[in-house]
Amino acid sequence: MKAIVQDKYGSPDDVLQLREIAKPVVGDDEVLVRVRAASVHPDVWHVVTGRPYVLRLMGAGLLKPKNPVPGTDVAGEVESVGKDVTRFRPGDEVFGETHRGLQWRNGGAFAEYASVPQDVLALKPVGLTFEQAAAVPTSGFIALHNLQSGGQIQPGQNVLINGAGGGVGAIAVQLAKAYRARVTGVDSTGKMEMVRSLGADHVIDYTREDFTQRGERYDLILDVASNLSLSACKRALMPTGIYVLIGHDHFGDAAGRIFGSLPRVLKLVALSPFVSQLPDLSFPIPSKKDVMAVLEEFLEAGNLTPVIDRTYSLDEVPEAMLYLQGGRARGKIIITP
Ligand SMILES: NC(=O)c1ccc[n+]([C@@H]2O[C@H](COP(=O)([O-])OP(=O)(O)OC[C@H]3O[C@@H](n4cnc5c(N)ncnc54)[C@H](OP(=O)(O)O)[C@@H]3O)[C@@H](O)[C@H]2O)c1
Repeated sequence: MKAIVQDKYGSPDDVLQLREIAKPVVGDDEVLVRVRAASVHPDVWHVVTGRPYVLRLMGAGLLKPKNPVPGTDVAGEVESVGKDVTRFRPGDEVFGETHRGLQWRNGGAFAEYASVPQDVLALKPVGLTFEQAAAVPTSGFIALHNLQSGGQIQPGQNVLINGAGGGVGAIAVQLAKAYRARVTGVDSTGKMEMVRSLGADHVIDYTREDFTQRGERYDLILDVASNLSLSACKRALMPTGIYVLIGHDHFGDAAGRIFGSLPRVLKLVALSPFVSQLPDLSFPIPSKKDVMAVLEEFLEAGNLTPVIDRTYSLDEVPEAMLYLQGGRARGKIIITP
């Protein structure tokens, strides 16, 4: 099969090559998916470049990627199934992530075929294209998990999404509306119209106004852009409000080369038992299977419409990743084999 392969870490245009490699071998609990669409997100960039370096110790591969084929989000058709697979059969149209754990390792999605554990897949809603379905899994997981278990979102709440026009934010705005919250979306000038069209009740252009200085108070601030401080956010939070940090490295520009944004995230985790405006860590992280089932329901019900910026072919993956890194995308970037 054709696949994008990397033998070492580095810039996407230096290390990614289109090659002919063997089809993946399907494990007993896995499904062989004929990939019809995959998508690009910031963590794919992190693993391709091997930055921050700590990810190499966290399962990605110490000196070179353990799995040479990048990408984690797929939509496609089931070609064959392992002997223990009960949830899917050949011909089913599915979407999901390609591995169960952390996104900080290659998942084999940028290829004609990918082998995927059955647990992390869901049936693709009939009215959705493969491209739309591939846009959802990782961004949807981050948005849903942080709104639900991190932010404890409730109907009627005043919710602010910082970075509302990006991959995670565009989904978070729609999910927060589906939970019947009042939503304020913060992003740059060119994304205001898009964020409004996703359902945001109010939009704020961060290049013109600092929302923490406005006097408005929120029940939940989801900081996808990750440029805010807890102390600034406290000015804009209700006493019972919650600040949730996602942790965006801005492609190596925002944090150190070795640990990235991990120290900042870990500091908030350490503070959380003592600061009521931080997420209560006793709420468990949902499984990808459960999250995919909820996302499938929202997509079926029309509460979530994926936003796609552009589509690249498999041989154009390096270009697609440089476009992501440039920060100009309005919606998700899709790869079609
Ligand atoms: N999307 C995924 O599937 C995914 C997967 C794994 C992890 N994550 C984590 O989630 C983070 C965010 O991902 P993403 O895909 O949503 O990133 P993204 O598409 O880059 O979105 C970030 C958004 O924040 C905006 N922004 C930049 N500076 C801002 C500021 N000062 N105030 C408010 N908004 C600002 C950006 O707009 P401008 O550039 O126009 O300013 C952009 O629209 C990633 O870095 C990663 O750590 C995401």
